Amino acid sequence: MPLLVGLLPLMVSTAGCMKRGCVNRAASGSPGTGRVFAARAKTTGIFAMNANTFGSRLTITTFGESHSPAVGVVIDGVPPGLSVTQAQIADLLKRRRPGEHSHASARREADEPEILSGIFEGKTLGTPIAVIIRNDDARPWDYGALVDLFRPGHGDFTWEKKFGIRDHRGGGRASGRETAARVAAGAVAMELLKARQISVTGYTVAVGPVRAEKIEMALLEQTPFRFADPAMVPAVEAYLEQVASQKESAGAVVELIVQGLPPGVGDPVFDKLDARLAGALMSVGAVKGVEIGDGFRAATVMGSQNNDAMTPEGFCSNHAGGILGGISTGQPVVMRVAVKPVPTIGVPQQTVDRHGKPHIFEGTGRHDRVLVPRIIPVLEAMVALTVADALETQEALRESRSLAQIRDAIDEIDGQLLTLLARRFSLALAAGQEKLKLGVVVEDGGRDAEVSHKWQITGLSHGLDDTFIHALRELVVAKSKALQEQKRKDNV
Ligand SMILES: Cc1cc2nc3c(=O)[nH]c(=O)nc-3n(C[C@H](O)[C@H](O)[C@H](O)COP(=O)(O)O)c2cc1C
Repeated sequence: MPLLVGLLPLMVSTAGCMKRGCVNRAASGSPGTGRVFAARAKTTGIFAMNANTFGSRLTITTFGESHSPAVGVVIDGVPPGLSVTQAQIADLLKRRRPGEHSHASARREADEPEILSGIFEGKTLGTPIAVIIRNDDARPWDYGALVDLFRPGHGDFTWEKKFGIRDHRGGGRASGRETAARVAAGAVAMELLKARQISVTGYTVAVGPVRAEKIEMALLEQTPFRFADPAMVPAVEAYLEQVASQKESAGAVVELIVQGLPPGVGDPVFDKLDARLAGALMSVGAVKGVEIGDGFRAATVMGSQNNDAMTPEGFCSNHAGGILGGISTGQPVVMRVAVKPVPTIGVPQQTVDRHGKPHIFEGTGRHDRVLVPRIIPVLEAMVALTVADALETQEALRESRSLAQIRDAIDEIDGQLLTLLARRFSLALAAGQEKLKLGVVVEDGGRDAEVSHKWQITGLSHGLDDTFIHALRELVVAKSKALQEQKRKDNV
């Protein structure tokens, strides 16, 4: 029977692996965990879910649950003319697809993306790009027992607390299925980066206690679990067999590297590039830690060992992981992500239902045993989206900077114009003084024609139109004459 859970009412005598205190509190309803679960489970969720949009200039909004007809994404802020095809999105989705190896979920999805808008004949239109991925292999009946039950380690309890209602089928929107939409968006971001010769690559550097001793980048595509060190794959497989035999799950560490990112990208203080990357990576389900560069190891060494010395030829090392002061150094950006063991496991575990009643939960459905390599394209997508967004923000900054510079230049010219006009009027006064001395009248038709001609020739040579030149000259000459007349009157 394809049942996800085997549920038994909690019996204290069978709870050998559980902490007795916790069992007693839950069973008796005395102040403690069980009572808190029961009392608060009745709280009605009053919050709308508004955290479904990511990014500032390049934004994605994802939608859909594990067992809704589809999951999908709207990508906005992509410039027009970028080459993006359905096949490119499908290729990346294939890497995230369930059922690709023996320790991955047995859920079978075609994961064929359907582009609804924003792309025409393989090129982006500059309009919102909408992509959906249908949920064809959903099995809602597998999850009947989870209507009221909270799985340990999953989002069931917390989502119930927040919203007071949830789609329990496959974890609803807290399901790994939601990440398919991110991967589709990531494929578009990857193309944006590719156009700038920037790449994002993720690979596994540890599964449980088995760690990669070297990184064989060239072999990643063909190495199981995308494990960086092919020589260690048999050890990974042996460990996962042991995990499987115990109906357990395993954690992993994924390393990601961004290559080709120029220096100067990112923002200071609250929007530091490392802060944004960490947030983006931590937003993926099951991610419990992020390191940038040497990360936690940096705390164990001295300053001189951690600093990346600089020479005219460049940095001597990359302990910083390509980011200093929140802004890229031009070195590769290196991150490591701790992925927790998949929460739904076959080991009987103590839990409660939404009424606070104790149960034993035992997962028996289609679940991943370890999230690598499936989670890697999701993490790559989040990094690509973050970096592409930072680059788009940078472009906008550059534009606004040049606008500020243009305005500075305009202000400077205006100042010069006024200074020159003041000088012109002062010279006109001096000319008036001379005319007075010489006893000639202010009006001089010949001189007027000469000035008019010069204005016209010079103005037209600078691309100014005739009417404007005439109007401006009239204004300036009239003011000059008025000043001369005034001088004459003052002298009389
Ligand atoms: C690609 C992917 C696949 C996942 N598959 C499963 C799964 O099969 N079973 C499961 O219990 N959790 C799975 N998870 C993990 C849960 O989504 C995640 O643990 C849960 O939402 C709780 O969030 P948190 O672990 O970040 O606190 C998967 C996550 C990802 C990113």
